Amino acid sequence: MEGKKRETFSSSLAVFFATLGSAIGLGNIWRFPYITGMNGGGGFLLIYFLCILFVGIPIMISEFYIGRKTRSNAVGAFRKLNHSNFKFIGLMGVLAAFLIMFFYSSVAGWVYSYVFKSIIGEFNNITVEKSKELFNLTISHPFYPILWQFVVLLVVAIILIFGVKKGIERVTKTLMPVLFLLILIIDIRALTLDGAREGVNFLINVDFSKITRDSILIALGLAFFKLSIGMGTMITYGSYFTRENNMPATAAKVAFSDTLVSLLAGLAIFPVVFTFNMEPAAGPGLLFITIPLVFTKLPLGTVLLTLFFILTSIAATTAMISMVEVPVAYFAEEKGMERKKAVLLTTAIIFVFGVFATLSLGGSPVISNFKLFGKNIFDLFDYVSSNILLPLGGLFIAIFVGYFVKKEDLYQELGNFGLINNQRIIDVFYLIVRYVTPILVIVIFLNSLGLLG
Ligand code: PHE
Repeated sequence: MEGKKRETFSSSLAVFFATLGSAIGLGNIWRFPYITGMNGGGGFLLIYFLCILFVGIPIMISEFYIGRKTRSNAVGAFRKLNHSNFKFIGLMGVLAAFLIMFFYSSVAGWVYSYVFKSIIGEFNNITVEKSKELFNLTISHPFYPILWQFVVLLVVAIILIFGVKKGIERVTKTLMPVLFLLILIIDIRALTLDGAREGVNFLINVDFSKITRDSILIALGLAFFKLSIGMGTMITYGSYFTRENNMPATAAKVAFSDTLVSLLAGLAIFPVVFTFNMEPAAGPGLLFITIPLVFTKLPLGTVLLTLFFILTSIAATTAMISMVEVPVAYFAEEKGMERKKAVLLTTAIIFVFGVFATLSLGGSPVISNFKLFGKNIFDLFDYVSSNILLPLGGLFIAIFVGYFVKKEDLYQELGNFGLINNQRIIDVFYLIVRYVTPILVIVIFLNSLGLLG
């Protein structure tokens, strides 16, 4: 494989949209608004921004560095850097990618099914009871959620078979602007409602009394998941970056735009919720139960609702492409598999295990009764990947770049051979990635193991 010409993205704009497509996902649209609201709004946001700055951006730059320097998948990259003993970081990433995909593809399936349901008008004149019932059926039916999960994986597989330029680049470059446009349309509608002020207040109100030690750790965890870091996604994408891409700037732009989309999602959801006196309820409830109820009560509601779920499915799909690409690049380059075969193998594995995650939500009593550490299979995959593998992967990546890479090499790769003089920025990055990021990540990790009480 070494001799074969590797694909790259064709421009810095393509790099930006692909990376942003990975970052923006289900995390922005339901997790971020709810978590922010429940943790004191503006105060929590401030902490989240700091996490993005001191953990998110440094780890993202580190992954870009490892990827573009080696032009390799997440495992092979460490071999090429002559640190084969660090290959375990990449292997952990491949494992994390699989575990996340097992449940993420399931949730993406619900979103796809909601696009379909809103188009055929299933939410017209819906009541609270009916909306709850529909959601329950969507997640716990023994057949339909599996069918939708299959559709999602099929779409992702087809895009990936087209490769880096014709697949990932073309799709993200087309869909990311559409996503921005859709969210702006929905925001304009939401912000002209009676409950707009209350909704905005809910999101930005600084109330430090609601901030606990836990909120800080939740903010750190969210930063990991949001920016798709800690599992080699950004190593893999970085390996396709153009030579002249200014990677510290790309990391900053992606982190900023991703946060902006999270805020815009919050601004779309909460004014609607407050206008109709709904509870700003938790996660899946907010997106899948509340949103159909409130949107269909608006003029042009059915159209808005359909747009909203199309937007969410775009976000989920482009995020998934980046997760699936991690094992695909690994199988193709380390195991010498043809790309198409690698895509089919990866999606097949995700589907087989993903079905267990889906059925553990009620579709099959035998599977949903199976619990390990008090968690069903769905929650187990989520817990192990988000709370253990991502922070651990991020920690090792920060340590690797901070202590095992020569500063001159960083100057060279991140400074683009003198094309852009980033020396001062690289100095600051180096300090943070050596001393600040690892310590912060150790704190998250200990908390996720319950060691900080
Ligand atoms: N960032 C994505 C989201 O917010 C999730 C993701 C995590 C994607 C890890 C790739 C890798 O939904």
